[in-house]
Amino acid sequence: MTIIAGNFKANLTRIQVATFAKELDSILTDMQTSSHLQVDIFPSHTALLTNNFKHFHIGAQNAYFAQNGGFTGEIGLSQLQEFNINRLIIGHSERRTLFGENQDFINKKFRFYAEAGFEIYYCIGEPLSVRQKGKNALKDFLGTQLNGIDITYPKLIIAYEPIWAIGTGESATLEQIESTHSMLATFTSAPLLYGGSVNPTNAREILCTPYVNGVLVGSASLNIQSFTDIIRASK
Ligand code: PGA
Repeated sequence: MTIIAGNFKANLTRIQVATFAKELDSILTDMQTSSHLQVDIFPSHTALLTNNFKHFHIGAQNAYFAQNGGFTGEIGLSQLQEFNINRLIIGHSERRTLFGENQDFINKKFRFYAEAGFEIYYCIGEPLSVRQKGKNALKDFLGTQLNGIDITYPKLIIAYEPIWAIGTGESATLEQIESTHSMLATFTSAPLLYGGSVNPTNAREILCTPYVNGVLVGSASLNIQSFTDIIRASK
């Protein structure tokens, strides 16, 4: 199975996402994609669409660990269920760094949505300072980000996204991706996605790298042409 996912972050409006989704469905129909390909998109909360497309799924970038309640600015399970959504990104570095989500908070989110049977895109990734300290530091750091997470959860997908490669236009090298993924594969059998400046030009070689089961794409997923070029690269 190859997984290609687009994280739109705080980009695209509801109307733009609706147009994108319609085009994506029709392009994927023409592509006659195989059952070995999974395509998921993660629009912003105001642009969530009902998850009933034929060739791809709609997921949420974030949600609070409650059915509903007094959690200003958040959405809960009820709001996702209304859209038939059962996929969620947890642990993205932007949530960890910009919004101060610590491992304890992330654990609560993980447990709640695993209990609800969600497919969870669980993101991990180190800052440059950790990578520069060498292999052991990297292993320890990524291990800490998996603390408390049930890595045997059957609907777990792990996205390795080095922070220094996110939104920078500089993806990790194939050697860095392979060595990090092979290390992760020693402690989990979950599919391993790479994320960080994936684009139509580097997608094919990244997808062909050992231990890479797919990609999580930010910037290059915002444009239907480049996103579908990345999907084509998986063929
Ligand atoms: P990027 O973002 O592709 O723009 O680097 C990746 C991500 O944050 O998932």
